[in-house]
This record gives sequence, structure tokens and C-alpha cells, in this order.
Amino acid sequence: MYKIHCLNNISSEGLALLTDDYELTDNIEEADAILVRSANMHEMPIPANLKAVARAGAGVNNIPLEALAQAGIPVFNTPGANANAVKELVLAGMLIAARDIVGGIEWVKQNADDENVGKAAEKAKKAFAGGEITGKTLGVIGLGAIGKLVVGAAEALGMKVVGYDPFLDAERAAAISADMAFTSELPELLAASDYVTIHVPALDSTKGMIDAAAIAQMKDGAVFLNFSRDVLVDDAAMAAALESGKVARYVTDFANPAVVKMERALVLPHLGASTAEAEDNCAKMAVTEIMDYLENGTKTHCVN
Ligand SMILES: NC(=O)c1ccc[n+]([C@@H]2O[C@H](COP(=O)([O-])OP(=O)(O)OC[C@H]3O[C@@H](n4cnc5c(N)ncnc54)[C@H](O)[C@@H]3O)[C@@H](O)[C@H]2O)c1
Repeated sequence: MYKIHCLNNISSEGLALLTDDYELTDNIEEADAILVRSANMHEMPIPANLKAVARAGAGVNNIPLEALAQAGIPVFNTPGANANAVKELVLAGMLIAARDIVGGIEWVKQNADDENVGKAAEKAKKAFAGGEITGKTLGVIGLGAIGKLVVGAAEALGMKVVGYDPFLDAERAAAISADMAFTSELPELLAASDYVTIHVPALDSTKGMIDAAAIAQMKDGAVFLNFSRDVLVDDAAMAAALESGKVARYVTDFANPAVVKMERALVLPHLGASTAEAEDNCAKMAVTEIMDYLENGTKTHCVN
């Protein structure tokens, strides 16, 4: 009998895949495997019986990969399982940036006691008007699990798409979309795009890649969307660009003390993967990976 310890709530659809050979345990000391979402494992001692760890999600910065590797314990993640959830929020991000939808909703709330709110709205609405995304150009930086889905969805909405990913060649890019303009030069994407969205991992090589120089290459009044990680964007440079109007809106999924004070930023509380479907998909994939490793020694999506 294998014993599984959950460090966070794991979707019941995932746990339902465990066969009669498995049982859940509250005692981490006797666990053969750990399922985790966001719990920080860096300060935890490694349980003596532990054989595998699976993160129901893509990022693994809450897990001590090196220490576990030294102890011979593989760590698995679930890349792509939440990609559709993030894609849908990117679409919402473009749409809430295209008109002042948030400002409009706030205006209605502020005028909730006005009996003539309908008439007042007709006068007030021009302050919240904007443009349409159909016909506009979207630049997609990073064409992995999420970026790919964003390309397809944006094209379906009538947008032109420019893609950039230094780890793809033209042939693989064409397989994502024959209509997408693929470039190996980031400045070319930045100069062509009305909306720019970034879908790359936070690595030493990508941190701060959207800095003052990159922003200067963007179209005046472009919208920048960040549903990847806040460290990819230089906050001071973005604040200055929003202030000057160089960037019209910064839509980000990562609240931090700098962005929450930027007037033209639309800041979400890390909602990208927060859908029931994504949580189920990640849990199912994590449980399957653990069972396949414990029973067959197979390592799928091992990250250490
Ligand atoms: N907001 C959320 O809740 C949420 C949820 C899931 C993932 N994410 C973030 O989204 C990121 C992307 O996720 P994914 O599933 O698409 O990952 P992925 O690994 O499938 O794709 C990442 C892509 O980035 C490309 N890339 C790497 N360095 C690059 C660079 N310098 N310039 C351009 N492209 C580069 C890679 O070649 C790859 O194609 C994750 O790393 C994570 O930080 C956020």
C-alpha cells in the first residue's frame, strides 16, 4: 500500500484516480509521495520514506529541487494543464484594457443611489469608451503551452498575431499558426504590436526583459499584458511609461507594492490558473505521474 500526503487541498477529481493500492495519510513521515500546490517546501526536512513529489501546477519555485535530487527523489510538475485557464484570462485582459470597463463599472456603483442613473450614464459613458481588438496586432512573446493557445484565440477574434520565441524554428512556429508572423527579433514584435503579451518562464535570462529599452521599442499607446511573472517587467520603467502614455495600460496578474500604485495598471490577484477545470486537470496529471513513477519507475515531466 502506497501512502500519499497532500500538503495543500488537491482536487477530488485527481485524488479519485488513486487505486486501491493507495491511501491518503496525514502523517508526512510515512508518505511515499507528496502532492503539493503552493506550500513552501524549502524549510521542510525531507521525510525518510519519501520517493516522489508532484506539484499540481507548472512553476516549481516552492520546492527544493536540488536537495530532493541529491536525495534521489524526483519532482514532477504539470505543464500545460492550466494553459487554457491562463489563455482565457489573457483574452479578458485585452478586453478590459480596450475600453475603460473597470472605470465604467465603478462609475455605475458610485451612482447607485441616483434614480436617473440610466440618463446620467448616457452622458458619462464617453469617458469610458475605447477601441476594438479585432483588426489590431497582438505580439506573443513565448510560444509554449499558453502562448500557443493565445495565438489561436486571438486569431479567432480577428486579430493579427506576431510571435517570438528564440527556442522555436520557423517550421515549428508555422505549425502553431500559418497566419502568425513569426520573428526572431523581439524589437520587431514590439514595434508592430498594439497589444503585447508575455508567456515565458522567470529565469535569470528573462528577468527584466521588458525594461526601458524594450518599452521604447513599443508602439505609442500600446497595451502590455503580463500573466507570467512580475520579475519579467522592470516596474520603474513601466511606471514611467504609463505616466507618459507610452504604454496605455499594463494588465498584470501579479500584485506587488509597485504595480498596485500605478494608476493605469489593471492588477489581478494571480487568477491565471484559478479555475475549477485547471485545478482538476493539474491534480489528475500530478496523481497520474506519481502512480506511474511508484508503480513503473516512469518519469513524466520530471523537473529535477
Ligand atoms: N498567471 C498564472 O496563474 C500562471 C499560470 C501558469 C503559468 N504561468 C506562467 O506562465 C509561464 C509560461 O507558461 P507555459 O505553460 O506556456 O510554459 P511553457 O514552458 O510551455 O512555455 C514557455 C515558452 O517560453 C519560451 N521562452 C523561453 N525563454 C524565452 C525568451 N527569452 N523569449 C521568448 N520566449 C522564451 C520557451 O521556448 C517556451 O516555448 C510560466 O513559466 C509561468 O511563469 C502563470
